[in-house]
Amino acid sequence: MLEHSDPAIFSLIEQETERQNLNFELIASENFASRATIEAMGSTLTNKYAEGYPGKRYYGGCEFVDQVEDLARERAKTLFRCDWVNVQPHSGASANAAVYLAFMKPGDTLLGLDLAHGGHLTHGSPVNFSGITYHAEFYGVEKDTGRINMDAVRKKAKEVKPRMISIGASAYTRDFDYAAFREIADEVGAFLWMDMAHTAGLIATGELNDPMPYTDVVTTTTHKTLRGPRGGMILVGKDGENRLGVVAPKSGRVKRWGEVLDSAIFPGTQGGPLMHVIAAKAVAFGEALKPEFAEYQEQVRKNAKTLAEEFLRRGYELVSGGTDNHLILVDLRSKGLNGKIAEESLDHAGITVNKNMVPFDTESPFVTSGIRIGTPAMTTRGFGEAEFIRVAELIDRVLQDPESDENRKRVRDDVREMCQNFPLYDFVTV
Ligand SMILES: Cc1ncc(COP(=O)(O)O)c(C=O)c1O
Repeated sequence: MLEHSDPAIFSLIEQETERQNLNFELIASENFASRATIEAMGSTLTNKYAEGYPGKRYYGGCEFVDQVEDLARERAKTLFRCDWVNVQPHSGASANAAVYLAFMKPGDTLLGLDLAHGGHLTHGSPVNFSGITYHAEFYGVEKDTGRINMDAVRKKAKEVKPRMISIGASAYTRDFDYAAFREIADEVGAFLWMDMAHTAGLIATGELNDPMPYTDVVTTTTHKTLRGPRGGMILVGKDGENRLGVVAPKSGRVKRWGEVLDSAIFPGTQGGPLMHVIAAKAVAFGEALKPEFAEYQEQVRKNAKTLAEEFLRRGYELVSGGTDNHLILVDLRSKGLNGKIAEESLDHAGITVNKNMVPFDTESPFVTSGIRIGTPAMTTRGFGEAEFIRVAELIDRVLQDPESDENRKRVRDDVREMCQNFPLYDFVTV
């Protein structure tokens, strides 16, 4: 249909699919959703308004979308072993906005991981609503280890007395000590929030520590390691009476955490939910509950470890010296390169990564000293450890002579050949 009704958009989608198929996709926050997930997203559910929650909507005709949302919620609760979820956030940033609305008043203090040390914009950056509306303080990683030191977090927390402490990152290669964060939060009387946007898939299958028993609230995206549609979600490990003292307007009953967070999404920060995306979330969570998904996550981590070892063997420096999760952060300064040059030259060779600040970076955010490399997407395509050793070799070949067209072209041919042996979707024929 689209090919005839809108050939311009059809052709651009075709070209993008071909780009995805013929390149190494190594952006740590990307993945390839299944055909079933994409099919649910492209369905008639996009037509339906369903403000509210299952059984309590502001619109008629919700009998089927109610069941869709219930299935998504039940599957997510099973997957993450938690009491309560909200599957309506349109994105990770929207999920985080609702957490702020529920827990903080304008001007309250947040203590989060510094963006320059791997944190996320929504954890208090001055250019984001979180840093504009709230007072943000930061903890970082240690210069010599590249890791978060919990004694330093405790010292900072006692100094700034935050109302909320955030955990979670976009570019941190190690796992978090949730029990230690909980202790600190209790010592200073703060709420504890984990943003597991990057690592949700690894947490679901037990590859990484579980934040649910220790935190007041957890947020995530659904499209990174979790491999679902683009979107967000909020979770609560143990639902119970909220400690904020929020009461239901009519009865005066103290609301549960989940109810407070539901209100923070709708009507607090969003209007109608994207029911087609919620259906796709349900499909992806169903896939994630299968044993193959645990095998996939195990492979994602093995591949990242292999990639780290191969880069170290080739004389590269890695922030924190390696990885516990799905990504590595390469500090290019010892090779006389920066992130911008590396990203651009790798792009020419068909290898997609992103430039990234390294802790204590001496370059600007537009140049940076590092690149971030993730394994989730190419592991979905079937790459194992042997393929990731080859990925490191091809990246190294480009970076040894990054300005040479001839060099980049030769690598590009090898990248294409490998991609053709691991087709992205079975409808892609290139
Ligand atoms: C830790 C973290 N939180 C939140 C987000 C925001 O997610 P979205 O892009 O869906 O708004 C990201 C995205 O990169 C992230 O890495």
